[in-house]
Amino acid sequence: MPEDRPFVGQWSDFSGRPMMAFLAPPGYLAELIHELGDSVLGCHGRLVLAEAPSIPPAWAQNVWKAPRLFTVSSISDAARQLRAMQRNWAACPVHLHRRTALVSQQLPTVAAKPLKFPSSPPVSPLGSWSFLSKDTILASAECTSPFPNGEIRFLEDHVNPPSRAYLKLWEALTRIGRRPGPGDRCLDLGASPGGWTWVLHELGADVIAVDKADLDPRLEGLARISRRKESAFALDPADVGDVDWLFSDIICYPGRLADLLGRFLAAGTVRNFVCTVKFQGPTDFEVMSRFLAVPGSSLMHLFHNRHELTWVVLDIHEKQEQRDAAH
Ligand SMILES: C[S@@+](CC[C@H](N)C(=O)[O-])C[C@H]1O[C@@H](n2cnc3c(N)ncnc32)[C@H](O)[C@@H]1O
Repeated sequence: MPEDRPFVGQWSDFSGRPMMAFLAPPGYLAELIHELGDSVLGCHGRLVLAEAPSIPPAWAQNVWKAPRLFTVSSISDAARQLRAMQRNWAACPVHLHRRTALVSQQLPTVAAKPLKFPSSPPVSPLGSWSFLSKDTILASAECTSPFPNGEIRFLEDHVNPPSRAYLKLWEALTRIGRRPGPGDRCLDLGASPGGWTWVLHELGADVIAVDKADLDPRLEGLARISRRKESAFALDPADVGDVDWLFSDIICYPGRLADLLGRFLAAGTVRNFVCTVKFQGPTDFEVMSRFLAVPGSSLMHLFHNRHELTWVVLDIHEKQEQRDAAH
């Protein structure tokens, strides 16, 4: 079993092969290992070392793109070697917590201010490191997330959003680096009580909020929010018309959501999709493949997601035209 394979002592077997380290979200190590399959070389807590896959795994909170293993003779030597590689580091403590804290104290402080939405994520590179043993460190100066261990934290609004689900949408829009704005027409499926609708309205977009359940009264009657108090599964894309963004946070079986989105994809009336795929029971890897079969799409586990993934396709028509031109 890959879980039983530690890094240490086997490193020499790995040398020469392009590999990366993948940090699983808490509770989803099995999902990450399943996705990486035979390319898994070893695990260290939630950190999985594997040969670089052809598509990024969805169940990874951060990817260490260029992990290096080195030995250290002391706390100061560990800090010195890390500082020599680059300035900013986030520790990924799996064990040896005290020792990890002592090294961190000797590294430059990384500003840990929560992000104010909408603003861009930090641009300075942030490396990740972990003690594998008392005198061995695994470190990567290059990681996919600019946030420590992929944990993106926002300056929260405890007053206005009707639900905490707004954080999930803030994170999705921050990660994709795009967001709707004034004049954009957004369809929000499974909108109640209105966290996502609130985010979209705040961004200046026009929102069609679809849910049989009510929206928070503070959102009712706002000029740029129109309500469809019906099941999203009964919607006819032709009746809805062209939309710039389709959002969905509906609680339903993932296969049912795939069928619904398939109807909108076939109609060609939507430009961008951001949808939560919620698993009911065990993680359904087959249904994940169904979502990923849509060209140009990706699945990611957000820090604010639970047992769910976020499926994203942007500029679907432009991508289709590029594919057609290439053939
Ligand atoms: C997790 S909540 C959505 C939270 C919302 N995005 C927010 O930010 O407040 C899931 C919603 O899916 C809705 N839902 C379930 N089945 C639905 C259906 N057939 N059509 C529309 N909405 C549905 C539920 O009523 C529920 O409000």
